[in-house]
Amino acid sequence: MKINILDNDAAIGEAVCKIICDEIKSKPGCVLGLATGASPVPTYKKLVEAYSKGEVSFKDVSTFNLDEYCDLPKDHKNSYFTFMRENLFSKIDIDMNNVGFLDGNANADSESERYAAAIEAKGGIDIQLLGIGRNGHIAFNEPSDSFTDEAWKVTLTQSTIDANSVYFDDVPMPHHAITMGIGSIMRAKKIILIATGASKAQAVRDMINGPVTPQCPASVLQQHKDVTVFLDRAAAALL
Ligand code: GLP
Repeated sequence: MKINILDNDAAIGEAVCKIICDEIKSKPGCVLGLATGASPVPTYKKLVEAYSKGEVSFKDVSTFNLDEYCDLPKDHKNSYFTFMRENLFSKIDIDMNNVGFLDGNANADSESERYAAAIEAKGGIDIQLLGIGRNGHIAFNEPSDSFTDEAWKVTLTQSTIDANSVYFDDVPMPHHAITMGIGSIMRAKKIILIATGASKAQAVRDMINGPVTPQCPASVLQQHKDVTVFLDRAAAALL
């Protein structure tokens, strides 16, 4: 794993934006795996800026998002689809036919097969962007007794519900989600993980210095050959 400790989330956003723009310039039809949550927002802001300045075009880029809540309409203001539309897709020239999203209201088994086939048909994910949960989860793969493979339906833990329910004001936060599995994430050619803030410090330490265990799902990244981690000083405090 390559570890970069930068001053703040704006600096991280700039650095990750550059990696993604370089990928798009060398492979205009590349496939990006995208994440939601606060961590990638500065990166999306910088990508929108780069697009607005004419430095990059997403017209041939394909994307697949990591996860989506169950039991929430796709267009609900708290859906991850809405998050991506507001933070990125509506502000760039991406072809929405090239945007892959898990349907949180579909049958999980058939949705998992559909998503795996769709990713494969595009040639796999070139760069997968990740955040990390306070308990070491990636996407919505919560700590458990085994690593998952393809997309599956998960029951969220209390730690994740506590961290994310601040965003829900009109409906209670769903307790289930459909998420890409650990196997699907590990098949990406390159992985970039962003973590900021003191609340992530323990999970970051476990991911980098702890044993590889499904009790800290992010620790599996130690076994991937091309992972770059971007941290601010608070998230790196326990390294
Ligand atoms: C959610 C998402 C994850 C994300 C995590 C951390 O659980 N499913 O993909 O990495 O939150 O979010 P944040 O970046 O807001 O701390």
